[in-house]
Amino acid sequence: MILIIDFGSQFNQLIARRVRECGVYCIIEPPTIPMDRIRELDPKGIILSGGPASIYEKNSPRMDAAVFDLGIPVLGICYGMHFMMDALGGTVKPSPKREYGFAELLISQPGPLFKSLPERSQVWMSHGDEIADLPPGFQAAACTDNTLVAAAMDPARNFFALQFHPEVAHTRKGKPMLHNFLFEVCGCKRNWTMKAFTRRTVKEIAQAVGRDKVILGLSGGVDSSVTAMLIHKAVGSQLTCIFVDNGLLRKDEAAKLKKVFKEHLQLNIRFVNAGRQFLKALTQVSDPEKKRKIIGKVFMDVFEAEANKIKGAKYLAQGTLYPDIIESRSAFGGPTSVIKSHHNVGGLPKRMKLKLVEPLQYLFKDEVRKLGKQMGLSEDLVWRQPFPGPGLAIRIIGNVTTGRLKVLREVDAVLLEEIRAAGYYRKLWQSFAVLLPLKSVGIMGDSRTYENIVAIRAVTSKDAMTADWAKLPHHLLGRISNRIINEVRGVNRVVYDISSKPPSTIEWE
Ligand code: XMP
Repeated sequence: MILIIDFGSQFNQLIARRVRECGVYCIIEPPTIPMDRIRELDPKGIILSGGPASIYEKNSPRMDAAVFDLGIPVLGICYGMHFMMDALGGTVKPSPKREYGFAELLISQPGPLFKSLPERSQVWMSHGDEIADLPPGFQAAACTDNTLVAAAMDPARNFFALQFHPEVAHTRKGKPMLHNFLFEVCGCKRNWTMKAFTRRTVKEIAQAVGRDKVILGLSGGVDSSVTAMLIHKAVGSQLTCIFVDNGLLRKDEAAKLKKVFKEHLQLNIRFVNAGRQFLKALTQVSDPEKKRKIIGKVFMDVFEAEANKIKGAKYLAQGTLYPDIIESRSAFGGPTSVIKSHHNVGGLPKRMKLKLVEPLQYLFKDEVRKLGKQMGLSEDLVWRQPFPGPGLAIRIIGNVTTGRLKVLREVDAVLLEEIRAAGYYRKLWQSFAVLLPLKSVGIMGDSRTYENIVAIRAVTSKDAMTADWAKLPHHLLGRISNRIINEVRGVNRVVYDISSKPPSTIEWE
């Protein structure tokens, strides 16, 4: 395995993904990780990530410099390079010319990191500091127009440092460089596959759970479905899934999911029809946070009541992913306040005195999809766009009523049909409609109308932390708008949301 030290770069998850794409397992830890823990993990190599700080600043993040005495190969990237240079006796200072964006790299010293790479290639820079003096034993290995030491190395000790970011796609030969570090320098083996993961995880779950019972909240999303499959594989009928239909799902969604789960997954599932309870609790509530809190509470009550019927359950399984774990404890990057209030069963383990099983906690979304596919989950489920726990309630701005739910469901169904037909469903992180609490004047036939407005939201994203509004073709937007206005009663205007996250969020509430 490879250990990645998180100095707060927005790209550290990308480093991990690149390493795993090479078939090598890795984890991300904060710089405060104790040396004993590193020895215990016994990584084949360590990657020091970039970060927003400058090493010469007073409170810049540092790790124990003893990391360089472990005899383990180290690759420093950007801030990670500066930390390495500084800790080993070099000097880093502000550079007269900041460098952001593309640059041409010229390799001056071949070494294992650059094996089979062209002398010149495009790299992506983002820094305002430079190496003034190299530490003893180091030599410069590459430069760009503005940066004399764009790469440095001490091959005898297996220390390498890059000023640019090999993990981003803009660095054309970045992946081969990381590949070289893993296989030429660290001697890693390509043994991180979803098959190996499944084998190991199933064994671990079986050992941990023993003969006890496990409960899982099935939402129909890919994460909870894959979690259910893994646990089912490990402990079979000791797993009971609970599917709560909160009445806030998309058109025909509950029925479709029931069919898939029952027919194809052969899981032990309890369906709870609680739509009325949710709607009643939401009567006359328009404040987004109140809606979320109410939905969260009703969900917990309903879930707990159902779970209590399963006597002797000791475990609660959740489909928490690695980004959630990193976000909630990141030392310098994501502040801890980002812990999502989304986790609908977040408070349950404590309340019900259940122990957590989170078999996906070291996986990224793309890995979960791969795993689901490999375990035989239908393409439809594997590629489902995320759908928020509070459902359509947070896509109906203002009061949630049966009538407004019906309008939004119809709009949403048309939208998804068109998005799918145009081949955009998988390319988009999410695509959905929002029903606004506004009416506008229109004309239909010869009559005046005064009806609802819906907004279409379509975004691209890797992990929902940031997102871009999707540049959907005008003819597709036109068709969507036409069909919605013609086919859905009560809507006479469609608008397209062209805001990115940040500063907007993906959902409107
Ligand atoms: P925002 O709106 O914060 O959403 O940009 C980020 C991602 O999270 C989803 N989301 C939720 N998922 N329960 C969930 O399970 C929730 O309460 C919730 N709120 C937002 C949202 O759809 C997007 O993918």
